[in-house]
Amino acid sequence: MTPVVRSPDAAAVAEAGRLLREGRLIAFPTETVYGLGADAGNDRAVAAIFAAKGRPQFNPLIVHVGHLAEAEALAVFPPLARQLAAAFWPGPLTLVIERRASSGLSHLVSAGLDTVALRVPDHAVARGLLTAAGRPIAAPSANRSSHVSATLAAHVAEDLGSAVAMILDGGPTPHGLESTIVAVTGNDLAVLRPGAVTSEAIEAALGLAIGRPAAVTGGVRPAAPGQLESHYAPKSRVRLNATEVRAGEALLAFGLPLPTPGPMINLSPRADTIEAAATLFAALRALDAGRPSAIAVMPIPTAGLGEAINDRLRRAASGRSG
Ligand code: TXA
Ligand code: MG
Repeated sequence: MTPVVRSPDAAAVAEAGRLLREGRLIAFPTETVYGLGADAGNDRAVAAIFAAKGRPQFNPLIVHVGHLAEAEALAVFPPLARQLAAAFWPGPLTLVIERRASSGLSHLVSAGLDTVALRVPDHAVARGLLTAAGRPIAAPSANRSSHVSATLAAHVAEDLGSAVAMILDGGPTPHGLESTIVAVTGNDLAVLRPGAVTSEAIEAALGLAIGRPAAVTGGVRPAAPGQLESHYAPKSRVRLNATEVRAGEALLAFGLPLPTPGPMINLSPRADTIEAAATLFAALRALDAGRPSAIAVMPIPTAGLGEAINDRLRRAASGRSG
């Protein structure tokens, strides 16, 4: 189906904001590339992003906000992160920092991690949409998984079609290259993805030398291994394709649940993978917190988002992350 492509006048932007609040997906231009946006606090809307992109894995997403003050309500800014925000926001720099428990963000935007990627875009349409939506917008690049990022509305239409409720056509995106992603943990800083902001510009803003691509020198220690893991791993053992629940186990159910006297969370009683994806990470965390002998996971089909759900669960079961 052909998606609705609109010129980003005030009426279109206001309608896009309304659609976002209703849980729909909106593609919009930023100064880097087009983003595929959803209400960052809405689990189902965020899950729909992964379905639309056809991502076989749940990569964490960038949360876009209008101002530093809004970002501070979502995450804890170490001084180094505040310095970078002051130097580059609004602009193509994304900061990966610790989420606040009170953020109200979907756990799916962080792929279950304790961190969140935040940026304040510098594009009139993106900023107008943030104002119209009145809430943070989670948005990966608006391309299908494994395709290159979209820098024209036509690319978005080709890749995502009717999965988006509306495409705001702001013409070609100025940078055409994604934002630079920097993780900040205390005094440690690491460039996770080179992008529109150069390492030289970051060095000039901070007045110190940063290693390339990841380690930091010049008085700041390199990030410790493990700090930058890109996936959440539960502490409890995870047992897949469970057909019965054993003593001491917690049950992660899908569809008609197995009988169990213990703790149980059903990802989707009606066996819907988009619904299951929406609460997967929150459910793993909640069951993990009870320190069960294991988390028994019922079989989940591999069609649609089931592929990403199973990928995530396999990593959790093998104790790997990454
Ligand atoms: O320029 C951009 O950054 C564009 C526009 C739309 O803002 N967005 C973009 O998003 O490129 P995406 O999803 O294509 O890339 C986001 C990257 C992913 O590689 C993801 O793994 C990383 O950010 N990321 C997000 N949250 C993270 C986190 N908490 N920890 C580590 N990496 C994270
Ligand atoms: Mg991308």
